[in-house]
Amino acid sequence: MFRIQIQTEDGETTSFECGLSEDVITAALRQNVTLLSSCREGGCATCKAQCTDGDYEMKNYSSQALPSNEEEDGLVLLCRCYPRGDLDLDVPYTFDRISFHEVKTEWSGEVIACDKISSNVIRFVVRCTDPETGVALKVPFFAGQYMDIEIPGTQTRRSFSPATTPSDDGIMEFLIRLQPDGLFSQYLLNDAKISQQVNLRGPFGVFNLHHNGIRPRYFIAGGTGLSPVLSMVRAMQEEKAPHETKLLFGVTHQHELFYYDELLKLAESMPKLTLGVAVMLPEPDWKGATGTVVDLLRQHLTEALAKPDIYLCGPPGMVDATFKVAEEYGVPKDQIYLEKFTPASEASADPEKGGFVLRQA
Ligand code: FES
Repeated sequence: MFRIQIQTEDGETTSFECGLSEDVITAALRQNVTLLSSCREGGCATCKAQCTDGDYEMKNYSSQALPSNEEEDGLVLLCRCYPRGDLDLDVPYTFDRISFHEVKTEWSGEVIACDKISSNVIRFVVRCTDPETGVALKVPFFAGQYMDIEIPGTQTRRSFSPATTPSDDGIMEFLIRLQPDGLFSQYLLNDAKISQQVNLRGPFGVFNLHHNGIRPRYFIAGGTGLSPVLSMVRAMQEEKAPHETKLLFGVTHQHELFYYDELLKLAESMPKLTLGVAVMLPEPDWKGATGTVVDLLRQHLTEALAKPDIYLCGPPGMVDATFKVAEEYGVPKDQIYLEKFTPASEASADPEKGGFVLRQA
């Protein structure tokens, strides 16, 4: 048995034992330590950590979840990490995210809305309930995390972040991009019905608000990357957070734009929130900004008096370009939090299985 020591980003530690043939996540669970994980097959990057000391072997994982340059830098996926000696590991979340008791991750609910809100986005709303009593159940999660939703009648799951915050009426709203030939998209377009029962698992993921004093917070979202970002901004609204906040949102075509009125209302109700919406290829009647969220960010960073915390969410190209601009303007890397959406088939450790949406933070 080897000793595994976990250090969280707020400097707390916990430790447990792990055998030669066990991965770190499984060994921790055996000893009632629940670290953040999701797929547990090396495909989603939820369990990514930095090894600061010790030897280990990594087995069967997706190079999308752990690219070779990260592996060379000592990053590991704990669900695929087998110790070969004592290990010291840093995880990118706070101690309160580790549970030391059984955590409920299986939920059921009923569909209460499924509406097309732009040419390629569906608003899918589920009310989580106790399957026996039908009473609404609050699903505890941190704004920015995600849930796996199962397509009814199948074992196929896809990962989506709620745009809402945890509420006592159990309602979770998901903003979902339609993918050509995507299995979940086919379900939403053809089979989803009001009152239909759905199974969910979660919450998962480490993309969430970091408490770094009153440093300004910039949220940058491309397409349905708005969903977790909206959850975080709504959480700030609920707790009346005092931070100077910017929410920058971009789409390619005007017909892809959604939630514009909701965002305007949110900005009206939050005096510290500045909203920027950009359309790359607008129609002649568009009165807002033309360009990308990267252009918007550049503009806001040029005028910034302090280096903000930056939260990025969207497709990989947009996230990479935005990350570069933030670095160019001197925002330290450890103040940039990101989550990339990758098509399930590209992110899977096991392409036969259909895979998981890759998320990183
Ligand atoms: S939980 Fe380890 S990669 Fe998904």
